[in-house]
Amino acid sequence: MTDETTANASDTEGYTPDDDLVEGHDYDGIKEYDNPVPPWLSLIFAGTIIWSGFYVVAINLGYISRYEESLDDGLAELQQLQSQAKEKTPEVTQQMLAKAADSQEAIDAAESAFMGNCANCHGKQGQGLVGPNLTDKYWIHGGSLKDIYKTLQNGVTEKGMPAWGATFDQEQIVNLTAYVRSLQGTDPSGAKKAEGEKFVPGNGSGSSDG
Ligand code: HEC
Repeated sequence: MTDETTANASDTEGYTPDDDLVEGHDYDGIKEYDNPVPPWLSLIFAGTIIWSGFYVVAINLGYISRYEESLDDGLAELQQLQSQAKEKTPEVTQQMLAKAADSQEAIDAAESAFMGNCANCHGKQGQGLVGPNLTDKYWIHGGSLKDIYKTLQNGVTEKGMPAWGATFDQEQIVNLTAYVRSLQGTDPSGAKKAEGEKFVPGNGSGSSDG
């Protein structure tokens, strides 16, 4: 109790009880003093008023960019970056795919990616598990190199085939396409029954796809 009294005494140091008391403001014994607002607070308050004046003038004269303008600038920058990125990765061509399919190096480069990401659904030999058999001539989504590339890139997410475009870069998907093609005719044991339509090389998609 004595402690509280001393604390109170030091809080109100410099005031005599009746100093600047606001008459009639007595709430359950809590009284209000008519103290001036601290100068720093007045300064901030005055500052906001002055700033609002500047702001109204500046935004109308175009010294401050409006939200819509900043947004337009940002969008233009984004579009530029996107078109730059597109230029850096040109669209995959038949030649790129055919070259990889003929290259043992490209096929080998994709092997560990296939084992780590595809084998759990398509089997280690591509014989098919949850996903279809990749070793036969029958394809649900087309058997040309371009078709396979597209299936890998975009996936068939509603049927459980993930889109790999987000995981692998273009070269890796080209190599995986070559790997899938290399499984053709390997005829592993326990292969899943064929699904889809027969793909005859050179007869589909209007390309000289061998
Ligand atoms: C989570 C399981 C799963 C994983 C992982 C997976 N796939 Fe698939 N994949 C499927 C399913 C399911 C389909 C069949 C989609 C359909 O029925 O349309 C499919 C279809 C395909 C097809 C098209 C087959 C056809 O007949 O047209 C190819 C090619 C393929 N996957 C390759 C791959 C490769 C390469 C990988 C690894 C990078 C991979 N998949 C990873 C489940 C998977």
